Amino acid sequence: MFSKIVKHLKPTNTSLRQQITVTMASTFVVLLLLVSGMAYFSLETILSKAAMSYLIDESSVMIKILDKDPDDIGALEQEVNWNPYPQQIRKDRAFFYYIRLLTADKGTLLETNGMSKRVGTSHFSKPVLPNKIRQHIKHINKHHKDYLLINIKVPTSISGAVRYVQIALDTSFQYEVIEQYWWVLLGLLLMSGLMAIIISYFTAKRCMQPITEMSRMTHRITSEKLDQRLSIKNYPHEFAVLGESVNAMLNRIEDSFNRLQQFSSDLAHELRTPLGNLLGEAEIVLRQARGNDEYRQVIESSLEEYQRLQKLTESILYLAKIENPKRFLAMEMIDVREIIQHLLNFYEMLAEEKHISFTLSGEGTIQAEKILFQQALSNIISNALKYSYENSEIDIRICSEAEQLTIEIKDNGIGMSPEHLPMLFQRFYRVDKDRSAKSGGTGLGLAIVKSIMTLHQGDIKIESHPGIGTTVKLVFKKEEALTSLSS
Ligand SMILES: Nc1ncnc2c1ncn2[C@@H]1O[C@H](COP(=O)(O)OP(=O)(O)O)[C@@H](O)[C@H]1O
Ligand SMILES: [Mg+2]
Repeated sequence: MFSKIVKHLKPTNTSLRQQITVTMASTFVVLLLLVSGMAYFSLETILSKAAMSYLIDESSVMIKILDKDPDDIGALEQEVNWNPYPQQIRKDRAFFYYIRLLTADKGTLLETNGMSKRVGTSHFSKPVLPNKIRQHIKHINKHHKDYLLINIKVPTSISGAVRYVQIALDTSFQYEVIEQYWWVLLGLLLMSGLMAIIISYFTAKRCMQPITEMSRMTHRITSEKLDQRLSIKNYPHEFAVLGESVNAMLNRIEDSFNRLQQFSSDLAHELRTPLGNLLGEAEIVLRQARGNDEYRQVIESSLEEYQRLQKLTESILYLAKIENPKRFLAMEMIDVREIIQHLLNFYEMLAEEKHISFTLSGEGTIQAEKILFQQALSNIISNALKYSYENSEIDIRICSEAEQLTIEIKDNGIGMSPEHLPMLFQRFYRVDKDRSAKSGGTGLGLAIVKSIMTLHQGDIKIESHPGIGTTVKLVFKKEEALTSLSS
């Protein structure tokens, strides 16, 4: 039921702390009111029941005496004048009673001292028989005092001689107790209500502490201070999960940011050399008038640098494009052997120059984007050619299995020592900067292959031994696993 009520509460933009405080405090106060109200009413019931029993007990004593001997004035008087000095009523007594004994013709026979001043005969209702007392108890308030009244018609052992017994029970003390109790209760209620508000406020504040800290921390974060993290050790479970996600997000942002920074500084570095060369050559040639041949020579050598710069920008753009594909990949079923054969034909001239021969074995089909697939293989084959010894062989194997297809490109060439292998996919990473630069390498080829493989949910592995050769393995998942990639 409670959860239903909570569900119906509309979400508001009031502070969460305020909402928790108000809900907690008001629930607490309502419960307190309920408990104290119940306590108040049960006390009242207990006390009024006790008063009635007292009244009935008293009347039965009188009835018993009258039943035994209606003329036993001594016994009757003792009962009626229970306190010979009514002015000295003891303050701590719960009940005082007054009895009046009347004859059959309503003449007063006996009366408690001072009764006529307090309760006259006229205050009583009609007399009833002893078995009806309970239903005919009357309540009056006179001179700021509360009384319970009963008027009994008592048949005596002497036939025909009835007596009337009027009993008034002063219950003021009981009301005083209840009233005192009420004030104490009110005081307690106010105090505990106030405490409930204070406790709720601080509890809510404590509960919201992680959120406050989170917002404070996120305010502090700038690009220079990306290393800030939430210390979630002392967080309650719910916030720890959120905190962990925030920290994980910050890790990713910091990582991307660092990579971006690294990339821009690497890029600047890459651009500096060709631009410096171009500038230097231009300055030297302009220092004095030169012949046409000289100008031609400078322009020709500049052309190489321009080409390098162009290749670099194209590669960077290409990388940016495949790292943030704006569209779904145009996946199609491709015949791997056919495409590789095509590429080998293209590289034939270059291979012949170095007296390198290709061998191609195996076959298979995969789902891939054709252009990207060609680009990846072309980058690897061109590396194999570039770093192979003359008169060697490049061996390409296609291995199609149930779950995956592997393409292995093995060259016999200069190879690399193992420490370079983990860095090969980083942008601009080259083992031998000079040699690579001379051969027109930008260090982006393998980074592009890696991105293409990631895009195809595939994998790339490189093994290499210096002076022996390098083996590159491209692992593609078979169709079933790739459905989510196609449009
Ligand atoms: N088959 C290979 N044999 C030896 N070294 C290689 C081979 N493939 C790549 N490398 C090394 O890895 C580096 C990175 O390759 P890549 O990203 O294609 O850049 P690039 O070819 O433009 O230099 C190369 O500079 C080269 O040192
Ligand atoms: Mg390359």
